[in-house]
Amino acid sequence: MVRLFLTLSPAIPRFNLYPGISILATYPSLRLQKHLKFKTKTPAFSLISPSSSPNFQRTRFYSTGTRIYSLPNSENSNFDDNLVVLGIETSCDDTAAAVVRGTGEILSQVISSQAELLAQYGGVAPKQAEEAHSRVIDKVVQDALDRASLTEKDLSAVAVTIGPGLSLCLRVGVRKARSVAGNFSLPIVGVHHMEAHALVARLVEQELSFPFMALLISGGHNLLVLAHKLGQYTQLGTTVDDAIGEAFDKTAKWLGLDMRRSGGPAVEELALEGDAKSVKFNVPMKYHKDCNFSYAGLKTQVRLAIETKEIDAKCPVSSATNEDRRNRADIAASFQRVAVLHLEEKCERAIDWALELEPSIKHMVVSGGVASNKYVRLRLNNIVENKNLKLVCPPPSLCTDNGVMVAWTGLEHFRVGRYDPPPPATEPDDFVYDLRPRWPLGEEYAKGRSKARSMRTARIHPSLTSIIRADSLQQQT
Ligand code: KG4
Ligand code: ZN
Repeated sequence: MVRLFLTLSPAIPRFNLYPGISILATYPSLRLQKHLKFKTKTPAFSLISPSSSPNFQRTRFYSTGTRIYSLPNSENSNFDDNLVVLGIETSCDDTAAAVVRGTGEILSQVISSQAELLAQYGGVAPKQAEEAHSRVIDKVVQDALDRASLTEKDLSAVAVTIGPGLSLCLRVGVRKARSVAGNFSLPIVGVHHMEAHALVARLVEQELSFPFMALLISGGHNLLVLAHKLGQYTQLGTTVDDAIGEAFDKTAKWLGLDMRRSGGPAVEELALEGDAKSVKFNVPMKYHKDCNFSYAGLKTQVRLAIETKEIDAKCPVSSATNEDRRNRADIAASFQRVAVLHLEEKCERAIDWALELEPSIKHMVVSGGVASNKYVRLRLNNIVENKNLKLVCPPPSLCTDNGVMVAWTGLEHFRVGRYDPPPPATEPDDFVYDLRPRWPLGEEYAKGRSKARSMRTARIHPSLTSIIRADSLQQQT
């Protein structure tokens, strides 16, 4: 794996990209294409032009098919073909590309990280992140092809993350994916970033079939979902404010830790030296009998503890006195313990709910950047085993953002005929891409609604599940 480090400037904190509001199935149709292997070289892609400008064109993922074709057992046939898909991921601060075979073989994986930016500013700056993606995207994709010893002509399709994420950043990946697909007449698959975090577990664990549970924990999301089948998810819980990764990142920043590998790994490492019961933090939402999360209050508790111990974030932990270092380690360990206790409590309840809905569940997937944490894995494994389920946790390189998960998810959808035909070889500069910065994965489970939930509903895209369901219904009538 190649890691390039880029230096960028001002930053905003990571944020929850959608608050998990349930949305009715009313929006763009997602249609299924008949042939698994795309044959025509003539782009049949329809462009939708808003009235304001004759040159203003918008892409639509999955907008041209006409029929649903059911492919028996396709959801369980992970390792049965020789499709080769290029996956491109630029939704946040990593520029990633990978080439994956339908057999599950990873032919290449390349990541260019904006770690220096995170280290300097403690968050992601959309404009600077976009520029950084733009600088490296061609090289990252070329490296992925070279390392796989393939050219574009060998590909079956291109998959790209279209949401949720930062629009400016998503656009860089989508533009590149469409340029490759357009120039080589390849079909293109628009991928949901959080679905990709969940489905990559099916590449890793051959036994993992639907239905299964998933806890997806990253910098911007805390999701508990029940995966019924490909593209069909029930959201059991989400965060009402910050995600756990954001809390790890802020804790690292305030403790003066080296954030070049992002905050989480730095807190995990320092926590090994600390006493996890020494600082009393309250477990969030203890009395909410749902599966939702909140990390904003815990962040505040950590900040206050840091102030009380007079820890100076400007003094790096490597230069701290022994006592100061021990104080920081105690806070790191105590924070990690309580942050994970919150996950444990909600997971226990979510598994009970999920088993009521789908009694045949055998697996729980834990994925997303925070799932690389060893303490998280250990504690959740105990919970999952107590419920007689098996934990599936991808290796750390597939838990944090990567191109493999996008290529694999693209493969899964491509196999069942969900893709767009090749775009035109050239597109105008003012082309408007179909990007979904705030895009829920599934429909919200009624029992799981939280009164504490943020009601920021503006510009939320209908969920992936609602789009797929609406289209199925439309096709049946
Ligand atoms: O999934 P991801 O790579 O990107 C997003 O989609 O956000 O997750 C990044 C998050 C960051 O907040 C990072 O600090 C956290 O995952 N993370 C960790 C660990 N490794 C990455 N958190 C705790 N422990 C870790 N070992
Ligand atoms: Zn992610």
